[in-house]
Amino acid sequence: MPPAISLTEHASGEAMAGAIADRAAACIRAALETRGEAVIAVSGGSTPKPVYEDLSSRPLDWSRVTVVLVDERWVEPDQAGSNERFVRDNLIRDKAACARLIGLKTPGDTPRDGLEAARARLAALSRPFDLVLLGLGPDGHTASWFPHAEGLNEALQPDGPRVTAIDARPSAVTGALTRRITLTRAAFNGAGAVWIFFAGADKREAWEAACRDGDIEDMPVRALLRDPDIHLEAHWAP
Ligand code: 6PG
Repeated sequence: MPPAISLTEHASGEAMAGAIADRAAACIRAALETRGEAVIAVSGGSTPKPVYEDLSSRPLDWSRVTVVLVDERWVEPDQAGSNERFVRDNLIRDKAACARLIGLKTPGDTPRDGLEAARARLAALSRPFDLVLLGLGPDGHTASWFPHAEGLNEALQPDGPRVTAIDARPSAVTGALTRRITLTRAAFNGAGAVWIFFAGADKREAWEAACRDGDIEDMPVRALLRDPDIHLEAHWAP
């Protein structure tokens, strides 16, 4: 079992958002300076909103930054619930308005119908991610790696495709949006930094449970916690 992941505890959600935005800006700046471009993968949901709002105001050469969705609900980009809409509204704005955004929602009635087109979008990306920003669900999911979901096995393969389709078991966490498309564990190979951040007592309990023994399928974030090749950095706020 790899060493326990250290959890940085922040005084407040605001403090956590500022700290992550600071570090993310530094990560992007370093990639721009060393490689002339930066490619980051970002999650949807709701927790990242203040992080993205802050990050979008940072004076970086955003014209050389590519932002990729970590996962997506199978809804159109202009519809409620769309992660692409959430990221476009909160990150691809202000100074970051000129960043390139690569969404995962493609034409097709189901994620599996749209999978080939989504994979083609990622195939155009030449390098590993410089930064991956992940959230955590109270059920122990991250990205769209939901417990016991159809497609979860492929999502967790480090040597499989970089995108896969997910059909999650309906729960209070998924709501009606059980059809998803997600980056897989393989998409994180070679990533410069992989950070997970979450807030509240329920997610702290989920984190503590995920850090204990148990099946990965029960709490799929465990796949990252137990992976010696992923140096996960974790952040929490009350
Ligand atoms: C999504 C996200 C998902 C998210 C967690 C936490 O599609 O919902 O990508 O993986 O990161 O569910 O979501 P909250 O930040 O809304 O709690």
